[in-house]
Amino acid sequence: MSRRRRVYEGKAKIMYEGPEPGTLVQYFKDDATAFNNQKKGVITGKGVLNNRISEYLFLRLAEIGIPTHLVRRLNMREQLVREVEVFPLEVVVRNVAAGSFTQRFGVAEGTALPRSIVEYYYKNDELGDPMVTEEHITAFGWAAPPDLDDILSLALRINDFLAGLFLGVNLRLVDFKLEFGRLWENEEMRIVLCDEISPDSCRLWDMQTNEKMDKDRFRRDLGGVAEAYQEVARRLGIMPEAGPRDLKGPATLQ
Ligand code: TMP
Repeated sequence: MSRRRRVYEGKAKIMYEGPEPGTLVQYFKDDATAFNNQKKGVITGKGVLNNRISEYLFLRLAEIGIPTHLVRRLNMREQLVREVEVFPLEVVVRNVAAGSFTQRFGVAEGTALPRSIVEYYYKNDELGDPMVTEEHITAFGWAAPPDLDDILSLALRINDFLAGLFLGVNLRLVDFKLEFGRLWENEEMRIVLCDEISPDSCRLWDMQTNEKMDKDRFRRDLGGVAEAYQEVARRLGIMPEAGPRDLKGPATLQ
């Protein structure tokens, strides 16, 4: 298994060549970064939790007809996924002002937005993932106008569904980031959800206390990072069988 070809290594995940053509293995690391790699750390057990949380959310989304790259979870830290042509875009959906939005527009953190707002960022670490408009995206050819129509409607459907799902476990879905790719099947192209949805890529606040239950605990040194990710998994009913002790997984998969 260690001799598999590494196709791509990102900040929180590694993509390996999959067992069949057109597949990849997505490996979730415990590494955490923030502010475009300026802050680095390790959150023990994060990879295991994000693998489970993201699998759970992708399966629920597939049930309501959102196409995703997920084939199945393989083990504690890995998923088998379809290989897709990833759009170089981060699609952010916001329901409540937080993070870069509060700074950019001078809106206080926690302000409910008049409606959900979708933003696009160009995925490019050297440039610090600049915010872009549909004009930039179509002019530079990162996605075509019909692709963007599909991406926007998928992002809004995902937001409606996930906001309700998290509300059901007493969490406010403040904002989150999605990635999409093109999947080719017999000359037919479909746009599918890829990457992950986890406390790394979402802001989740406790409904009553507004306590942050996501990567902002790491970004802002609030402590209790792993515990917050565990609590999200627990509320979703997917805590690993043996509880937190089970989080490190077999040594061979570390
Ligand atoms: P932002 O407020 O920093 O722009 O982040 C918006 C949402 O996107 C938040 O839920 C965190 C997520 N996000 C990522 O998943 N990756 C990133 O690189 C950034 C900047 C944000």
